[in-house]
Amino acid sequence: MSISEMISEQKLQERIAELGGQIKADYNGKEITLIGSLKGGVMFMVDLSKHLDPATTEFEFVEASSYGDAKESSGEVKLSKGLSGKLEGKHVLIVEDIIDTGLTLGFLIDHLKTFKPASIKICVMLNKPEKRAIKNIDVDYIGFDIANEFVVGYGLDYKGKYRNLRYIGSVK
Ligand code: IMP
Ligand code: MG
Repeated sequence: MSISEMISEQKLQERIAELGGQIKADYNGKEITLIGSLKGGVMFMVDLSKHLDPATTEFEFVEASSYGDAKESSGEVKLSKGLSGKLEGKHVLIVEDIIDTGLTLGFLIDHLKTFKPASIKICVMLNKPEKRAIKNIDVDYIGFDIANEFVVGYGLDYKGKYRNLRYIGSVK
């Protein structure tokens, strides 16, 4: 397996700073609960959070999985870690590594709605629009649009590895 750099560490960090600035301005002092989507969304959530106001930002984590060890989505989403905090009346921002078919985020949004938050927004590092199956997901913040290639790094894995690569690489 060979990996070629698609998005450099510097480009990632520059874009994350921009997104953070935009989110800060949009929420305009309101409290935000970041919902990190495990495990892939962790790197992105941590770096993004550094650009938000510490006095108004909370962390939560959830884990839904559809991929298993394959490179293609299995089409089935399961919840492997539920939310622990109270989200009623909170402004929640789901932070995810990538949206591909949209099954994972569609599932997470439905799950979050049952907690009656004041608002739900979505922030993804990467958007792979080509194979979207769930069409009605509004992604509020997108780092980069990419082509339909399998990528690793910056949270994204192949068989559980490569999440700690500092850049996004395309797998050949
Ligand atoms: P979706 O449910 O098809 O939108 O896929 C979303 C999930 O699939 C993400 O949270 C990732 O875990 C995984 N995924 C999708 N594309 C890739 C990829 O190119 N590399 C690694 N994981 C991916
Ligand atoms: Mg994932």
